[in-house]
Amino acid sequence: MANLLGWIDDRFPLTKMWNDHLAEYYTPKNFNFWYFFGSLALMVLVIQIISGIFLTMHYKPDDAMAFASVEYIMRDVPYGWLIRYIHSTGATAFFIVVYLHMLRGLMYGSYKKPRELIWLFGMFIYLALMAEAFMGYLLPWGQMSYWGAQVIISLFSAIPVVGDDLTLWIRGDFVIGDATLNRFFALHVIALPLVLVFLVIAHILALHEVGSNNPDGVEIKKNKDANGIPLDGIPFHPYYSVKDIVGVVVFLFFFSVVLFYFPDGGGYMLEYANFEAANALKTPEHIAPVWYFTPFYAILRAVPDKLMGVGAMGGAIVVLFFLPWIDRCKVKSIRYRSVIFKVNLIVFCIGFVVLGWLAMQPVNETITFLSRLFTFLYFAFFVVLFVTSKNESTKPVPDRVTS
Ligand code: HEM
Repeated sequence: MANLLGWIDDRFPLTKMWNDHLAEYYTPKNFNFWYFFGSLALMVLVIQIISGIFLTMHYKPDDAMAFASVEYIMRDVPYGWLIRYIHSTGATAFFIVVYLHMLRGLMYGSYKKPRELIWLFGMFIYLALMAEAFMGYLLPWGQMSYWGAQVIISLFSAIPVVGDDLTLWIRGDFVIGDATLNRFFALHVIALPLVLVFLVIAHILALHEVGSNNPDGVEIKKNKDANGIPLDGIPFHPYYSVKDIVGVVVFLFFFSVVLFYFPDGGGYMLEYANFEAANALKTPEHIAPVWYFTPFYAILRAVPDKLMGVGAMGGAIVVLFFLPWIDRCKVKSIRYRSVIFKVNLIVFCIGFVVLGWLAMQPVNETITFLSRLFTFLYFAFFVVLFVTSKNESTKPVPDRVTS
């Protein structure tokens, strides 16, 4: 074995990569459960790719056959139901894990210098993930697939001058049809997964270049021993490779409960209207996107003007890219930050969830009023952060990590 490894190492940096990224990658010793979500996101990505490959073996990207091919997968393909539910539950799990992963970043200031690029790669991953989920949702060719895509694609027509041409170009036809289904299939199955995988590699390389942040927001590279090893660091492998298994087991428990007992998620993960084949002549009563898009959909609905609504929705995502520069506080972790920051973040998180709920309700005056209020609170988070973070009254940050 040693000879074989030596032979490979002479030709490919296998041991070097193992050491650089695992066995000699020093990680802060105070990680808590919030640090599970990065490795969990990686695992869900793999689950989605593998289950997706098996689904593609039986799915037919054709407007006359797509719906029936999904029924065929569910009823006739051995364990087809399992493969499909793994993939649909995986989509929801992906967003839960990624939202918690992002929240961890917000709490511990992981987007701050020198980790701005990790955050930016993360945001591009988030965009790619939304595109991936949106296109995947058209594929079963159910009523919600069809009408959801109809609503979202038609938003592009609000763009002045080029709007109508752009919408036509995206659809590939005057209505959503076979051409749309085919291109969404191509993008969902190969283009976006490739983009996602490359972005995740860049995300992790950027992380390993500067090293991980931690719940104290202390830079462990500032305190090294005589050998240049951070005093508060432990090798990622075996310490965190083993610890992450705990997160995996807990995750798989909840994942399996949903997968085997509530695969439609009460209509939130697989919407009931989608059990009916796409019908261009029959609009469903309530068109709402799947839960992970609803906060942004609520912002869109809150603004009366279509173009302004699209602008507000886009702005709600774009503003997140600028977080490293909006937050001007030198202290990273929420543990040592002011009450204003804590309250601001809590209000933002609650507001985000409430917006998500509001978008699932049929529109009436109260819902519209609340959507506007919470849209205001969403953007207020960034304004308050920008204004208050410069001279924030923070607590003293320890030199070394606390256990
Ligand atoms: C497919 C999706 C993603 C995967 C597989 C992924 C993977 C990872 C992994 C393995 C880590 C190191 C472990 C950890 O700190 O938890 C990490 C760290 C990080 N990720 Fe992600 N990530 C994803 C999406 C995102 C998104 C959407 C954002 C934010 C916009 C983000 C921001 C960060 C930040 C700031 C860190 C550094 C955290 C720290 O050191 O405290 N990631 N990511």
